[in-house]
Amino acid sequence: MNIITVKDYQEMSEHAGKLLIEKVNSKRKTVLGLATGSTPEGLYAYLVKKYKEGNVSFADVQTFNLDEYVGLDGDDPNSYMHYMKHHLFNHIDLPAQNAHLPSGTAEDLEEECNAYEKKIEDAGKIDLQVLGIGLNGHIGFNEPGTSFKSRTHIVELDASTRQANARFFDSMEEVPTQALTMGIASIMNSREIMLLVSGEGKAETLVKLLEGRVTEDFPASILHEHPNVTIIADEAAYSKIK
Ligand code: F6R
Repeated sequence: MNIITVKDYQEMSEHAGKLLIEKVNSKRKTVLGLATGSTPEGLYAYLVKKYKEGNVSFADVQTFNLDEYVGLDGDDPNSYMHYMKHHLFNHIDLPAQNAHLPSGTAEDLEEECNAYEKKIEDAGKIDLQVLGIGLNGHIGFNEPGTSFKSRTHIVELDASTRQANARFFDSMEEVPTQALTMGIASIMNSREIMLLVSGEGKAETLVKLLEGRVTEDFPASILHEHPNVTIIADEAAYSKIK
């Protein structure tokens, strides 16, 4: 794994943005894997800025997000589709039909998962997957114990994950209990992965990732087995690494 340490959140976002833009500018039909959460917000702001300055176009890009809550449609302010529109899609030239998220309101969720997986294959695989990491080591919504062989599937969200995400909802009861997520094998199938880690709160998580062993009890540990992973961590996140 290639580890890049930067000063703070701002630098992490800019560094990630530069790498992503380089990728998009180097291949006409780039396929991007995208994440939601607090971590990539700065990255998306940087991409919007660079798009507006004319440094990058997303007209030929396809995007696939990692996950979506079950039961929330794309207009729900807490859906990940809404998050993506708000932070990125509404501000760039990515054609709406090129932006993919699994639908958490599909009638047949199993079928939706299989169709999503096929769509990624049909697009020719993800060239660059952006990841954040949960405190428990989850990537996407793949909680500890998820099989490394998993493909896009339905998950029951961990109490700790619901708790961590409750900040976006009015009450704990409103936080969905299920989500659709790309699986670990789906993520590992990407040609390149960029994991962003920021803040003191993630410092212990980064220690577990970098110093721990590869185990399904800590999903992100599988990244040690991917041939092309870059971790961009800020000083606070990196502060507990020996
Ligand atoms: C979001 C996702 C999650 C987040 C993780 C970290 O699409 O897949 O795995 O990356 O929960 O979230 P933040 O960035 O809010 O700390």
